[in-house]
Amino acid sequence: MKSLWLDTAPVISTDPFDPGESFDTVVVGAGLTGLTTAALLARSGQRVAVLEARTVGAVSTGNTTAKVSLLQGTQLSSITSHHNADIARQYVEANHQGKSWLLRFCDENGIGYEIRDAYTYATTEQGLKSLRKEHEAARAAGLDVEFTTDTELPFETTGALRLRDQAQIHPLALLGGLAQDFRAHGGSLVEGVRVTGARHQDGSGIKVLTNHGEVSARHLVLATGTPILDRGGYFAVLKPQRSYAVALPVTGTVPQGMYLSVDSPTRSLRTAESNGISYLLAGGNGHTVGRKKHTQELVDDLVGWTVENFAVGSAASYAWSAQDYSPAGSLPYVGQLPLMGTNIYAATGYNKWGMTNAVAASLALSAEILGGENPWARELYKPRVAPLDAASTLRDNAEVGLEMLTGWTAGLVNSTDTAPPEGQGTVSREHGKPVGTCTVAGTTSRVSAVCPHLKGILNWNDAEQSWDCPLHGSRFTATGTLLEGPAVKDLDPA
Ligand SMILES: Cc1cc2nc3c(=O)[nH]c(=O)nc-3n(C[C@H](O)[C@H](O)[C@H](O)COP(=O)(O)OP(=O)(O)OC[C@H]3O[C@@H](n4cnc5c(N)ncnc54)[C@H](O)[C@@H]3O)c2cc1C
Ligand code: FES
Repeated sequence: MKSLWLDTAPVISTDPFDPGESFDTVVVGAGLTGLTTAALLARSGQRVAVLEARTVGAVSTGNTTAKVSLLQGTQLSSITSHHNADIARQYVEANHQGKSWLLRFCDENGIGYEIRDAYTYATTEQGLKSLRKEHEAARAAGLDVEFTTDTELPFETTGALRLRDQAQIHPLALLGGLAQDFRAHGGSLVEGVRVTGARHQDGSGIKVLTNHGEVSARHLVLATGTPILDRGGYFAVLKPQRSYAVALPVTGTVPQGMYLSVDSPTRSLRTAESNGISYLLAGGNGHTVGRKKHTQELVDDLVGWTVENFAVGSAASYAWSAQDYSPAGSLPYVGQLPLMGTNIYAATGYNKWGMTNAVAASLALSAEILGGENPWARELYKPRVAPLDAASTLRDNAEVGLEMLTGWTAGLVNSTDTAPPEGQGTVSREHGKPVGTCTVAGTTSRVSAVCPHLKGILNWNDAEQSWDCPLHGSRFTATGTLLEGPAVKDLDPA
């Protein structure tokens, strides 16, 4: 499944990898966090390399819906209830800084975007209550949000919040501009190199280990979505949330605002223009990675809902899915990774609002590395575990523990010689070990179904034809190549 953005991406030039080189900073990952941080550091004169395991934007940033909005569902009421109104105000300020920087960068580099009103809407009385709470939290945090019943939606709503003058972008056009800016300031952008480890060395900074050799750096930024090499255990307080998006050609009048529902199942809408065609994008049907059977049904459901409600063609031109990480306590984690020694940083937990949060995190991380500070970052990104976080962390870890137990003790059948039907995969037991067998494009492959991160038992994802880990969200191709997540190794052979 390829996204509209990756299919229409500009050509992005990259550099060769030179093992043995030394840098001021190595940034791991070429999504929005990695490239923005790298560009900011290179602009200030640092010698910087970005090492990307796959290709620029291959993971969340290339598969997002790319609304650049400070109206973010129920994010502010959630932050206020986990923390307080002051923290919510700083979160708004950080996102405001992120949005302003991003749009200014687009203006200065001729990257197009559209200004749109953002809406969060409800279709039930319960949803209306959530909207009222969010309205109150948003006003207290200084956002000029209006309550309205006037939307462009073709079905009945119980109310909506509107924030005027937000934006929608083509995320790969933005990454292309950032890559160009970074390389123009002397940065080295490398694709196809996976970082597999890091260790501090006496007097000469950090040795960064990759699958193609080593480099050294004074600072290491893990801009990898969920952090890799994470001894502090951030991955354990992040819930990997996968959801789906489809783009259908527009055949009549469709809403021009950017919409998000508060009720379940979540529905997200925006428009996009590409190669002279207008599309309506719909997103939603999210779930924790690896915990849903028959994911293709979720894509079909999203297409059905869009066709039923809007003036669009009868089939999706593009359908894709992606995951982002929900933090316990609703605030991103940005800063030095605990228990990793000094000068190793990470930024994660944007809860599907990374367009502004990733840029805010990059502004904060680059300032910290350069010895400065942003006033809004100090309190906002301070390491904290609020009482409510502890509760939700405990709940999520209980779920993770249960998944672990279920995976290992489930009545896995002994493997047979029968290949799964096309597009399907099964996990069975062979000599006591879980083995994944799947059939894709007529070829049957067998891999170990044990996740190399912390030994979760993988499940088959039929929409993406991948092996997905229900514990912390690592994902692998049908033949076992690592796609994303905290793991740094491919699956073992069966
Ligand atoms: C379906 C969906 C819709 C969304 N919609 C919106 C939206 O409308 N608005 C909004 O603000 N946010 C949205 N988001 C969130 C947003 O897309 C993300 O928060 C953001 O893109 C994260 O960027 P990132 O750079 O941190 O991570 P990524 O883009 O995932 O980049 C991480 C990179 O690190 C690389 N990497 C990982 N491990 C290694 C390694 N060991 N070595 C080298 N490289 C490695 C990966 O290959 C990847 O390219 C959405 C997210 C999803 C899933
Ligand atoms: S991602 Fe942690 S065990 Fe699989």
